[in-house]
Amino acid sequence: MSKTNISDSLMLPCGATIKNRIGKSAMSENMGSKGFVSNRSFETLYGRWADGGTGLLITGNVMVDQRALGEAHNVVIEKGINDPCLKLWANAGRKNDTHIWVQLNHPGKQSPKFLSKLPVAPSAIPLKKPLSRVFNTPRELSESEILEIIERFAFAAKVCKESGFTGVQIHGAHGYLVSQFLSPTHNQRTDKWGGTIENRMRFVSEIYTAIRVEVGPDFPISIKLNSADFQKGGFTMEDSMKVVKHLSELGMDLIEISGGTYETPVMTGTNVKESTKAREAYFLDYCEEVRKIVKSPLMLTGGFRTSHGMNEALASGVCDMVGIARSLAINPDFSNELLSGKDVASLVKPLTTGFPFLDRTFPLEIVWYTDQIHLLGKGQDPNSKRSPLRSVFSMILELGMSAVKKVRG
Ligand SMILES: Cc1cc2nc3c(=O)[nH]c(=O)nc-3n(C[C@H](O)[C@H](O)[C@H](O)COP(=O)(O)O)c2cc1C
Repeated sequence: MSKTNISDSLMLPCGATIKNRIGKSAMSENMGSKGFVSNRSFETLYGRWADGGTGLLITGNVMVDQRALGEAHNVVIEKGINDPCLKLWANAGRKNDTHIWVQLNHPGKQSPKFLSKLPVAPSAIPLKKPLSRVFNTPRELSESEILEIIERFAFAAKVCKESGFTGVQIHGAHGYLVSQFLSPTHNQRTDKWGGTIENRMRFVSEIYTAIRVEVGPDFPISIKLNSADFQKGGFTMEDSMKVVKHLSELGMDLIEISGGTYETPVMTGTNVKESTKAREAYFLDYCEEVRKIVKSPLMLTGGFRTSHGMNEALASGVCDMVGIARSLAINPDFSNELLSGKDVASLVKPLTTGFPFLDRTFPLEIVWYTDQIHLLGKGQDPNSKRSPLRSVFSMILELGMSAVKKVRG
């Protein structure tokens, strides 16, 4: 039997087929308009990506509650918001039989001070220093609020389906609310939503089930999940194996493997060991372990740079799709190049402003790539020569000093 490669299609448990094995992983566009709605730039951006050959486009995180934003220009889907551009966005992303899924998120305590005076979380536990300077200590959610948030995810998924998106993804990674519930550090509740891993995963299980009821059996539902979050007492390997197995058994159509939080931002390669980077995919070892216990399709994200590395990972059977983020922000046609069969490598390289202090203070990987996404949204080409220093100054000008110390992914 020939080995799987990036050109092969993939049929999901729900019956939907993705035309190839390349997924664009979520990158927050930070491009929403007043009133938390999308606009024509999303149509332009996703049309460009859909022309680029990628089989699956996962949108940047879309919030389910306007009172709980992760970033200043998030799009929100909730009752009472009428967003006519969602349909245009979905149509553009569906071109060429491309799948376009909306990543749904609630930031929990990872909503910065300039956006949330009093964020919510499973427990009233602040983020560690120095992040506690940027994020307020959260208050604990009541049970009725937890149930309301679950309903919000389900409602947003329904709107996504009605608008023409072809699937949804629950953001269960990077330290946001779903991930906070899973973590014994951040979730110290004593009711049925905390304590054992069975209780801590109740929130995400119920979100999945509520979404499934709204969208029916044929609509893809995915989750982005963290490997162990590299924090002592955090979401451990053993816990995450239990979660991943349970979600697979529930019927998750695609499990995306990533890692890290604001406190340990390994998702974009910061703090990742050189030996790991050399293997391309940051979370390959973890994915191998997951593969042993689940049948659901797996998408591995973080660090893939070459057609060789991607095909190797697929051929080994460790994952069923490769997830790519930054490479597609600087080259929206990267997937077509990969699919051409030639040896292709991404142009992603380390960024620096030239000033170590600024490099340490600002989330360069985020601000610079967000700038590239904004160029695409304006119908322009990305500009890999753009100076990271310029991106930092644009961010300061736009958001003001109070907003810039955050680290995200
Ligand atoms: C500008 C930017 C925004 C991002 N926004 C999100 C997001 O909204 N949701 C998410 O799950 N991951 C987000 N990520 C993380 C990426 O999906 C991905 O996990 C990470 O960049 C590693 O993949 P790569 O090495 O191919 O870039 C973001 C990354 C960047 C660079």
